[in-house]
Amino acid sequence: MKKIKEFLKKKNKSKIVCLTSFSKNIANILDRYCDVILVGDSMANVLYGMKNTHGITVNIMANHGASVKAGVKKSLLVIDMPKNSYNTSRTAIKNAKFLIKKSKCDAVKIESNSKNFHIITALINTGIQVMGHIGYTPQFKKKFKIQGITQKDEKKLLIESKKIEKAGAFGIVLECIKKETARKITKELKIPTIGIGSSVHCDGQILVTEDILGLSGFYPKFVKKYINLNKIIEKCVQKYRKEVITRKFPNKNNSY
Ligand code: KIV
Repeated sequence: MKKIKEFLKKKNKSKIVCLTSFSKNIANILDRYCDVILVGDSMANVLYGMKNTHGITVNIMANHGASVKAGVKKSLLVIDMPKNSYNTSRTAIKNAKFLIKKSKCDAVKIESNSKNFHIITALINTGIQVMGHIGYTPQFKKKFKIQGITQKDEKKLLIESKKIEKAGAFGIVLECIKKETARKITKELKIPTIGIGSSVHCDGQILVTEDILGLSGFYPKFVKKYINLNKIIEKCVQKYRKEVITRKFPNKNNSY
């Protein structure tokens, strides 16, 4: 609860820094610089090479959550509930309890389908903290599209975000929402908004770590690739291969 209180206090004070992690070693580095680490279901595409996030299971999420937790000391740790794991309050409670018990994460995140507000309340009533997620929600939207462009869509998103806040969520991810709409939502809500492709107006930002490192091969406009790690890894592997073949590795320092 302390971590959530600190998260809430950041609204209108300082920007909230968030990234995803799927494993301990990366989480250990992120923990020194992030307020929130998300065990995202984007691991379906990024790690498992699936064509969307729909095939990831509660068990896979829980295992990666436990790995991430092993590298985290201070950050607020949020884990995604996979598609179809929160269709009813009963299944949501069962699966969220399992995810939290197995991974020891602090909270779960669920995507909004504009109807599942009661699931958030049901989870909170059993003591599980929930982060919401609106806009382009990959578990429910078939095709990628920037959200909140028309006045009608903006109004819909504003209502949806307020219902999520009222249902008890402590924060909300805004994914690929038009700048002005994201600004209005952020202004109207008391809980922090975390943007991905939703402009500087959000209270915080999140990106997929593999994207900013240049590892995923997925670089839409909203991603900033801070380094091309693919190239660096390739160079290391090339050098290793050469040294193995030419017997330069292992040398006496690497031998017993
Ligand atoms: O799964 C994920 O990585 C996410 C972020 C894109 C917010 O939900």
